[in-house]
Amino acid sequence: MSDIHLDAENLARLFGISAADVRQVLGPHGVPPLSYRRPSASEREAILRDVHKHLEDPSLRISGENDSAVWERGWGQIRDVVAREGFNLRSLKPQYFRNQMVLRLAGDYACAPNDTFVTDVDVLLRRIAYSRYLAGSTSVLELGCGTGLNLLLLRDILPQAKLVGADWARASVEILDLASKESGSKISGMQFNMLTLEGRERLAIDSDTAVLTVHSMEQLGSGFQPLFDMLMQAKPRLCVHFEPIVELYDPAQLFDALAIRYHKKRNYLQDYLPALQRYAEQGLIEMLDVRRLGFGSQFHEAYSLVVWRPR
Ligand SMILES: C[S@@+](CC[C@H](N)C(=O)[O-])C[C@H]1O[C@@H](n2cnc3c(N)ncnc32)[C@H](O)[C@@H]1O
Repeated sequence: MSDIHLDAENLARLFGISAADVRQVLGPHGVPPLSYRRPSASEREAILRDVHKHLEDPSLRISGENDSAVWERGWGQIRDVVAREGFNLRSLKPQYFRNQMVLRLAGDYACAPNDTFVTDVDVLLRRIAYSRYLAGSTSVLELGCGTGLNLLLLRDILPQAKLVGADWARASVEILDLASKESGSKISGMQFNMLTLEGRERLAIDSDTAVLTVHSMEQLGSGFQPLFDMLMQAKPRLCVHFEPIVELYDPAQLFDALAIRYHKKRNYLQDYLPALQRYAEQGLIEMLDVRRLGFGSQFHEAYSLVVWRPR
């Protein structure tokens, strides 16, 4: 199978912008040389078997429950790495990106050339998305910020902006405390629960704030309403979500039907996009973009963009 290059033209198509725009938003980082290949017939067979095995696995963790223990454990390990090695791209890499050699990319399974490909593409898509949708922001609040990877990328894109990360895991706040000790860092962290809204008084959202969620509302199942109501009351400037959006798959395609089954089995975010679309019809919010980028693990795609603002 020949290599497929993930070049500026391909990236531009995903975002609905021009290749020149991609180069411009990436600035000095440029478009790294990234290529992958499609699986052979026997590899595809093995991928499908593995996907089915996971779909039948009773031990897969289910989202939507009010329990942060698994995140405390995972981010506690990362906090210890950050304490030793500093707040940087390598130290903030979440454990779940390890050993992802089979991915979903541009409508089909993709074989990665090495085990850094997944994070190379992940960071590239994040950089383009934030440069494009959060340009000019003076204040960004990330809900469910995890290791703080997005805030690190945003510090580069928006050097003057106030950057706040909120997460229910204490360990996550401790990582951001370490980041804020770095000289000149505008990053800070606070504890907040997106399901119960515990800690909401600390968030201080105002009309300058852009709210960002990345792979974190996915964890709410269908429990997004209190958070949405809170956002509507607080009236931020903008809300940018980078999440798996189940309604953007095509159930008639086997490739997508498998992702829908996986998404539902994990109880990831559902009904959020239709709810936003209803609010937009009622004139309560304005939808600015809805976009499936078509990248993900072999099981599903957590890279759909939904951008809106309260009216
Ligand atoms: C998959 S990680 C994504 C982390 C980060 N946004 C990123 O892009 O790397 C999901 C994050 O959501 C957080 N999270 C899950 N449920 C939450 C809740 N109810 N309230 C606050 N944070 C939550 C987890 O602690 C974790 O940090």
